[in-house]
Amino acid sequence: MTPDRSTPYSVVLGIGGHLPAECVTNAELATRVDTSDEWIQQRTGITRRYIAGPDETTSVLATAAARKALAAADRSPSDIDLVIVATSTPDYTFPAVATQVQAALGITAGAAFDLQAVCSGFVFAVATADKFLRSGSHRCALVIGAETFSRLVDWEDRTTCVLFGDGAGAMVLEARVQPEDARPRGVLTSHLRSDGRHRDKLHTTGGPSSTQSIGHVHMEGKDVFRHAVGMVEDVVRAAFEATGTGPADLDWFVPHQANRRIIDASATKLGIPPEKVVTTVQLHANTSAASIPLALAEAVGDGRIAAGHLVMIEAMGGGFTWGSALIRW
Ligand code: ACO
Repeated sequence: MTPDRSTPYSVVLGIGGHLPAECVTNAELATRVDTSDEWIQQRTGITRRYIAGPDETTSVLATAAARKALAAADRSPSDIDLVIVATSTPDYTFPAVATQVQAALGITAGAAFDLQAVCSGFVFAVATADKFLRSGSHRCALVIGAETFSRLVDWEDRTTCVLFGDGAGAMVLEARVQPEDARPRGVLTSHLRSDGRHRDKLHTTGGPSSTQSIGHVHMEGKDVFRHAVGMVEDVVRAAFEATGTGPADLDWFVPHQANRRIIDASATKLGIPPEKVVTTVQLHANTSAASIPLALAEAVGDGRIAAGHLVMIEAMGGGFTWGSALIRW
């Protein structure tokens, strides 16, 4: 790849994750729902999830993750001029969670808005922030994935309720012109796709304009599974092609954490060895837009992801939507 030095890159300065206080293991869940630890682990790899309490709304989780990301980035709220929150479970239909985070942190400059691409939301948000930062219109962004999916699942539907959890993750991205003599750091490329024909395979049964209620998650699990691996392969290969890189160049593959079997099948198909794959779905279940920043926070926190590493993030979710971003840490 010949790097374009005329525009800044969006460089990752810090990352932070936050989970609600209440942890519910598979065994505990099996006392409330007709399921078993064995079934859940075998089908998904999940061992536990965190469930938000009444006061732990999406904006509260998002703000906690944002504070950790700012501390890791050594930046203060006054440095931020763009807040993007990827979520499908806002506190209110409006105003946006992003404006609530902005107010909670005391940020008054710039813009704040939510972005809705379900489980692909964080990848879409990183790609969007990157375009703002590269254009020069904004300088320092808080990009957040935050969800309270426990409020959206039907706790009577064992085919979906066992799969999801709550949480938030945040990333600070700053626009930086790269020196001529160094390998560029930051978001190197991103690839986003959507295909609304798949609406019925993964959707909620309500919304303000249709039922005046939020509805519940409905998923045709087998169909979603069938599409997921091909979609992931599509956007990851697009990122490799755009940058002249391949699986051997990657230090870390950080997929959306929905299901261990999808993660393993995607990595195998792409020729990415298991030791390069960051998997945290076992720790907190599918937290939708929060799952990638939570996984990044885990792998940065334990020292796996370090400065200079090449990191591929990817996701697919309701819509369908799917996307990837390749980041030099
Ligand atoms: N506990 C026990 N048994 C269960 C449960 C449960 N929680 N749920 C379903 N079963 C039973 C079913 O009733 C069925 O029983 P039967 O054979 O007697 O009819 C059996 O288990 C098999 O059910 P399937 O639905 O066929 O199970 P499958 O092997 O397909 O696994 C799963 C289901 C885990 C949902 C899988 O299809 C999957 O992972 N799909 C992809 C989900 C995903 O990754 N989504 C990502 C995007 S999410 C987003 O964007 C919001």
